[in-house]
Amino acid sequence: METNKRVPVIWLQLMDCTGCSESFIRSSHPRTENVLLDMISLEYSEVLSAASGYQIEANRERVMEEYKGEYILAVEGNVTDAEFLTVAGHSALETLKETAKHAKAVIAYGSCASWGGIAAAHPNPTNARSVDDVIKGVPVMKVPGCPPIAEVMTGVIAHVITFGRLPELDGKGRPKAFYKLRIHDKCNRRAYFDAGLFVESFDDEGAKIGYCLYKVGCKGPTTYNSCAEMRWNGGVSYPIQSGNPCIGCSEKDFWDEGPFFTR
Ligand code: SF4
Ligand code: SF4
Ligand code: F3S
Repeated sequence: METNKRVPVIWLQLMDCTGCSESFIRSSHPRTENVLLDMISLEYSEVLSAASGYQIEANRERVMEEYKGEYILAVEGNVTDAEFLTVAGHSALETLKETAKHAKAVIAYGSCASWGGIAAAHPNPTNARSVDDVIKGVPVMKVPGCPPIAEVMTGVIAHVITFGRLPELDGKGRPKAFYKLRIHDKCNRRAYFDAGLFVESFDDEGAKIGYCLYKVGCKGPTTYNSCAEMRWNGGVSYPIQSGNPCIGCSEKDFWDEGPFFTR
């Protein structure tokens, strides 16, 4: 830490695929390097920390002690009863509880941390579940998506740094600024939906023209996320614009509410 202005962040990965970290490092506004070098001090990350092993575990403990009640805990991946999930020989679940205890706030990044994620699909053999299922007494903000949009991930951190508190959340614990609208509300294919012009199969003429994807399984009408407004890869595109129906990846239980596509 160079100065106290940069807020310490501990980033734990539980049962996950690292896709959320991969998304985070691609933020263009604010740029990831600005977040890492000017806003936060990333003290513990399996993906980005230079240190590893005993050194990094010791640093996590130091930050928890020196910055009690000041550090932010970011969590990627779900909570599970699976005994194989250990880090540095310790149960990931116990490490989560220990690290959350004195955090200022917890950010549950991704649909795994927010809702349990794909590992929680029926019959959920490892009892995969959300972070707020086990963390009580500390504010938890959910930033769902599989993964979440990069600029949403950095945007919520920027808000916490700027205002010293979590942004306004909706009834499900998501930041309203990014999850207040459905994909359907801002979809670039919405005019076709309103006109009753639908893709009937992925290789028909309507698909080539860009008709609405509702009849081939689009979950945009029931999915709350910013993809249609902010788009991905620095605002370039998003699944529907690229010809793929929204599978509702930011919604709870999207993994069990398929089929993902109707053929
Ligand atoms: Fe991977 Fe999706 Fe879970 Fe993120 S939410 S860790 S991208 S499976
Ligand atoms: Fe709505 Fe999906 Fe059709 Fe877009 S493609 S208008 S989100 S149903
Ligand atoms: Fe996910 Fe739908 Fe956006 S699948 S990435 S919420 S368009």
